[in-house]
Amino acid sequence: MAGEHYFSADPAVAYERHVVVFEALGQEFRLTSAAGVFSRDRLDPGTATLLAEAPLPNVSTEGVLLDLGCGYGPIATVLAAAAPRATVYAIDVNQRALELVRENTIGKQVVAALPDEVPEAVGFTQIWSNPPIRVGKAELHALLLRWLPRLAPDGVAWLVVGKNLGGDSLQRWLVEQGFAAERHASRKGFRVLKVQKPLSRGTAAA
Ligand SMILES: C[S@@+](CC[C@H](N)C(=O)[O-])C[C@H]1O[C@@H](n2cnc3c(N)ncnc32)[C@H](O)[C@@H]1O
Repeated sequence: MAGEHYFSADPAVAYERHVVVFEALGQEFRLTSAAGVFSRDRLDPGTATLLAEAPLPNVSTEGVLLDLGCGYGPIATVLAAAAPRATVYAIDVNQRALELVRENTIGKQVVAALPDEVPEAVGFTQIWSNPPIRVGKAELHALLLRWLPRLAPDGVAWLVVGKNLGGDSLQRWLVEQGFAAERHASRKGFRVLKVQKPLSRGTAAA
């Protein structure tokens, strides 16, 4: 599959399935993944760090949560289990990833969608993401500037980025854009960033 990356839309590789097993919320999750999606064989260590270090929502959490760049859906699945009263949007550009999310979250309050399918009026109380660093800095920045401003005024985004993939420079860039971005945790070479819109003025508050 020369030239094809996991983030390609509608990957043309064979639909070979895998089961990914991991623990979160004190329970075991068994999700279906497949060739052509990110980290198909195991829960990505960055995602594992995010789920272990950032405060997961709970039964009293309401509103709409976003899993930005959902892959086969490990973050969306855990969010939906943790916050049954919330709606979780799981978005990705990879059609196969969206099919897998739908399969993995049958009966749950999860909407798997392409980015352009999310209604403009929807805002998010929380955004969770292991973002696609490998798309390049310009595209990553554009992605974050598209979705972070859709946080509710008191909303929070939790991002995980490898230190060697630019976690610290991303944090600085977010601050330059007017967001409140702090390092919430640092573990196994990953930074977990907490990002909020400022209370007033600036790009992020737009
Ligand atoms: C690092 S992976 C994380 C996947 C999944 N959340 C996980 O933890 O296994 C980033 C994901 O972002 C997706 N992606 C790439 N560009 C995107 C875009 N413009 N909008 C939404 N998702 C995108 C990729 O297809 C990929 O599934």
